[in-house]
Amino acid sequence: MAERRYYLWNIGCQMNRADAQRLEEELARRGLVSTRQPERADVLVLNTCVVRQSAEDKVVGRLASLSAIKRRHPERVLVVMGCFVADPAALATRFPYVDAFFRPSDVAGVMAYLDERAERDAPMDPCAPVLPAPVSDLVPISYGCNHHCTYCIVTIRRGPEISRPLDEIVADVTDRVARGAREVTLLGQNVDSYGRDLPGHPDLADVLQAIHGIEDLWRIRFLTSHPQDMTQRIIDVAAALPKVCPSWELPVQSGNDAVLRRMARGYTADHFRDLVARIRAADAASAINTDIIVGFPGETADQFADTLQLVEEMRFDVVHIAAYSVRPGTPAANWPDDVPPEEKERRRVAIEELQTRIAGEINAAALGTTVEVLVDGRQRGRWRGRTRTNRLVFFADVGAWMGRLAQVRITWAGPWSLIGEVVGEGCPTF
Ligand code: SAH
Ligand code: F3S
Repeated sequence: MAERRYYLWNIGCQMNRADAQRLEEELARRGLVSTRQPERADVLVLNTCVVRQSAEDKVVGRLASLSAIKRRHPERVLVVMGCFVADPAALATRFPYVDAFFRPSDVAGVMAYLDERAERDAPMDPCAPVLPAPVSDLVPISYGCNHHCTYCIVTIRRGPEISRPLDEIVADVTDRVARGAREVTLLGQNVDSYGRDLPGHPDLADVLQAIHGIEDLWRIRFLTSHPQDMTQRIIDVAAALPKVCPSWELPVQSGNDAVLRRMARGYTADHFRDLVARIRAADAASAINTDIIVGFPGETADQFADTLQLVEEMRFDVVHIAAYSVRPGTPAANWPDDVPPEEKERRRVAIEELQTRIAGEINAAALGTTVEVLVDGRQRGRWRGRTRTNRLVFFADVGAWMGRLAQVRITWAGPWSLIGEVVGEGCPTF
């Protein structure tokens, strides 16, 4: 039987990455082989994102470029899933050459559809090899979000929050670790509200405690946190458990209270400051990353200055900066998008320049120190891994370091990565 190939195109958040990875595993279990050339694929899957207009444009562009392949080879299967899919019937009219549309994270739906098609066409290879999991793996703990941030389409496309039962998460992590994962990142649009829809209301701290005992699991991370929902219990439990890395994804979005109110974020800048202080009090080594939107409707120069001030003050490790993008269907889309594009760009660059300096200073302080790196790959002839605080580290060595902990002495520091030399092997002592 001729080898069947699949082409998977994926953009967007970590949740999409997790979905894409699971799709690849399912396809590989059925004997399909990955190809990066869509024209050679029997099965084409697009996992989409529409968080900003630029992402949506990429999806539409990709669909247009694949339409020619479908016209030439109608027997090939093209499916689209992810946040682009709001109204499958309307999309089917607009993109008639797409075989089927599936909602965000509906990996099961995509696979059921492909299995059914395969029965009609050529049967898929029934062999089911056990596939290795990535050293650093992604495990969803909840889907959707109950917040309604006024700029956000994710909550609209993904719907209300649904938490996975605790025992299902433990079983999933156990399986991934048995297949070679040594680090897991627990995923949710808002991990701090995990479990509110489940019987007995377990929280993120319960998840951390439940998976902490899994042998051969060395590191635990989670994202994304929400400043309104993070509890002291979550901070304390995360700080007390040695496998939980001191690394927080805590989006602030703005440093100005009026803007935060219009965004419907549910906290003030001072509440955020207090939260950061409590995280650092629980563990001084905590790295804190954030997201910021510049040029939200009505954001004045003074209000933006409050954000700049907060960034200066907080000394974040990483700041993801986005220029506000109108998302039809969101509440903010009804307000004038009144910050001109060149002013949005000026504000974006102002934060970027400030943060580049701060990140450079934070990383420079690592020079000469020895950090523990979990090695997860190779890049340009060097080993690549991450510190517990999620800093990227490269080192050259003849040893076979993949999936191991290396003790690395830092010899070079830039704002986005570190370079060092191995001084020994780390030992996971828990
Ligand atoms: N709850 C998740 C997903 C939110 S979307 C999280 O907090 O990560 C991810 C980021 O995209 C947000 O934090 C925000 O900074 C940015 N974003 C969302 N909608 C946006 C919009 N309309 N314009 C610009 N940036 C946006
Ligand atoms: Fe979106 Fe706000 Fe939820 S950014 S995903 S509505 S916390």
